[in-house]
Amino acid sequence: MKCKTIFFENDKTQFYFDTNFDKIDAILTSNNVIIITDSNVALAHKTKLKNYATIVFKAGEASKNQLTINTIIAKLIQLKADRNTILLGVGGGVVTDITGFVASIFLRGVSFGFVPTSLLAMVDASVGGKNGIDVGVYKNIVGTINQPKFIVYDTNFLDTLPLKEWQNGFAEIIKHACIGNTKMFAQLQQKNIDFYRNNNKKLKNLIKKNVLFKAKIVANDTYETSTRKLLNFGHTFGHAIENTCNISHGNAVSIGICFAAKLSAQLLSFNDYKIIETLLQQYNLPTTISYTATKVFNAVTKDKKRENKVINFILISQIGKAIVQPIDISFLKKTIQSHQQL
Ligand SMILES: NC(=O)c1ccc[n+]([C@@H]2O[C@H](COP(=O)([O-])OP(=O)(O)OC[C@H]3O[C@@H](n4cnc5c(N)ncnc54)[C@H](O)[C@@H]3O)[C@@H](O)[C@H]2O)c1
Repeated sequence: MKCKTIFFENDKTQFYFDTNFDKIDAILTSNNVIIITDSNVALAHKTKLKNYATIVFKAGEASKNQLTINTIIAKLIQLKADRNTILLGVGGGVVTDITGFVASIFLRGVSFGFVPTSLLAMVDASVGGKNGIDVGVYKNIVGTINQPKFIVYDTNFLDTLPLKEWQNGFAEIIKHACIGNTKMFAQLQQKNIDFYRNNNKKLKNLIKKNVLFKAKIVANDTYETSTRKLLNFGHTFGHAIENTCNISHGNAVSIGICFAAKLSAQLLSFNDYKIIETLLQQYNLPTTISYTATKVFNAVTKDKKRENKVINFILISQIGKAIVQPIDISFLKKTIQSHQQL
């Protein structure tokens, strides 16, 4: 089966674009396979999954915690999983993050692959080897960087994806366009969600373009010492409001992009805030939210990009050009307070 192999600093991943899940046995190197999925995907795709041992956890970000990891590990022991077992994460970003993390720690590491089933997981979460869990409101604060052996893209899964999850996926796509792809930004301006939902060929192209965009950045800087940081555009503020305001990751990233674009206008004389806001709205994404400044500030200061009194924020000097900008914590506190009603 046709695949593209991408080498990262720590490992390599085989990307099977345009594949059908029914053909996955040809990719699996062991018949000792255990699927990890969530309750929504298990229900919507039970026929597809019926031939495999499957561990199902309750859908939603609230499951991305240590308790779920412990439950999954107990089930793996029950199922007699061993070092030849391949864990297959079939689901959205919560499933891929959890599967990658369990696979990294169970028996000190077993092989794993992904079949992303949400648009967000296809274009972003499944790629690059970051995995992990939340602790309270602190997003992804525990985890590892460990690459899946393979990722299988089957857009048939998207037939059952709720519309609001399509919107969430476009938040990460627009993020990619903002930080490094003006051509894709212009293309997105000409289209909308309906266009991509009804045009599978264009959708597959868009997914592949985004996967390769992210994979190239990760291949050059797997451990996030330099350019990988740019992928966090919209995420420092986004992560802080995601769990404190209890909204979806994609919605939080969209609002986080607006926050970062406004900071860019303030600090870098970035002129195109309105253009970004309009594009996010075109894909039915939120651009504002009211929040409790102290809670959000506290969450921001726990961000992994913090170094003492400074947080490395990702800003843009123009659409398609992102930079790392150290921002003083006290300045950020004031900005978070004054943006309360963005
Ligand atoms: N590791 C990374 O690099 C990375 C990057 C971006 C996001 N993430 C993480 O990904 C998560 C967000 O991912 P997400 O938006 O996919 O969330 P998710 O996994 O919660 O999926 C969103 C919803 O869609 C449902 N769903 C998924 N596929 C479906 C399908 N085909 N049919 C019907 N329902 C389906 C899920 O059950 C869930 O209710 C966050 O936890 C975020 O931190 C990780």
